[in-house]
Amino acid sequence: PNADSTKGKLLAVYEKAQLFYHHILVNTKAGEEALNYLIDRGITEESIETFKIGFSPPKREALKMYLENENLSETDILKKSGLFSDRDDDKFYDRFTNRILFPIMDAKGHTVAFSGRVFLENKDDQRRTAKYMNSPETEIFNKRRILFNYDKARPNIRREQEVFLFEGFMDVISAWQAGIKNGLATMGTSLTEEQVHTLDKVTDHVVIAYDGDSAGLEAIKRATEFITEETHFSIEIAAFPEKMDPDDFIQSKGIDAFKDFLSHGRDTLMSFLMKYHKQDINLSNESDRLKYIDKVLDELTRVTSAVEREMYLNQLAENFDLSTESLKEQMHGHIVSNQ
Ligand code: GTP
Ligand code: MN
Ligand code: MN
Ligand code: MN
Ligand code: MN
Repeated sequence: PNADSTKGKLLAVYEKAQLFYHHILVNTKAGEEALNYLIDRGITEESIETFKIGFSPPKREALKMYLENENLSETDILKKSGLFSDRDDDKFYDRFTNRILFPIMDAKGHTVAFSGRVFLENKDDQRRTAKYMNSPETEIFNKRRILFNYDKARPNIRREQEVFLFEGFMDVISAWQAGIKNGLATMGTSLTEEQVHTLDKVTDHVVIAYDGDSAGLEAIKRATEFITEETHFSIEIAAFPEKMDPDDFIQSKGIDAFKDFLSHGRDTLMSFLMKYHKQDINLSNESDRLKYIDKVLDELTRVTSAVEREMYLNQLAENFDLSTESLKEQMHGHIVSNQ
């Protein structure tokens, strides 16, 4: 956009803010504690540079004063930037204070927003404020469109012909350090049509690698339904062990185990669904067992490959000591009633 347009001015403000916050983290005493926190978590200096991570100091007017010195103080633009909160009076206060800032970049690598993480290991503090706080939406930042790390991952997604979807920024960054450079994350929200459309331009193979907790499982279920409705992508699921996210996995099991899991530990959509429907069901109870079989058969009706269908039917037949024939018959009942 034109440098004199609102968008151009907002981009200029975000660019300066990103440089300022990064400088505070890397080169000043004020950023020392935050820097140590990141290093303790295994984030390398190289990543801090690559992702241009920053720190917003506790002072409520640090950014405001810096931008004024840089002759970026047009009230209207500062207001629209979402980098400040103005209270009742005309005074501006920095929105981000005392947080580690992850710049959110558009497809061209321009910073258009921040996500700020609290890091003080003061539990009271963490309970009072949200763990992550994001910039509000602006003319340059649309949460529904943005994919964290898309600017850097795009050529790698094209080359690998697949994309990893993670839940968190920390997962994307840790994976990147482990050499998995085709990973993205949303802003902590469900995948949108706009994001799927963006992915559609570069690949048709998605690997969902969300957190291994019940929220993660539900999110995987939603994402798979959504992706299959919107596209012809092939989907695989890397279901992480319970209570672990990809970053936790790397920190506790190491890079080699992580890469091994990502390449050999994947489930097909159907085997994920077979696991998913087992939750909260007691398979030694007959009626639960019937319900489970019915759910799986219903999912199977959506599998278009006859060979795949047959494979899962055989698996199901074996697991429950039933004939493939009777399962097939029952599945056809679902096909008819789904029409
Ligand atoms: P760490 O605790 O630093 O390892 O972060 P994480 O990436 O594991 O975060 P988590 O799994 O809790 O959440 C995944 C993503 O959801 C984050 O990257 C954020 O985008 C988003 N998220 C998490 N907590 C909050 C919150 O309190 N507010 C908002 N707006 N988003 C959040
Ligand atoms: Mn392909
Ligand atoms: Mn989570
Ligand atoms: Mn997580
Ligand atoms: Mn985490």
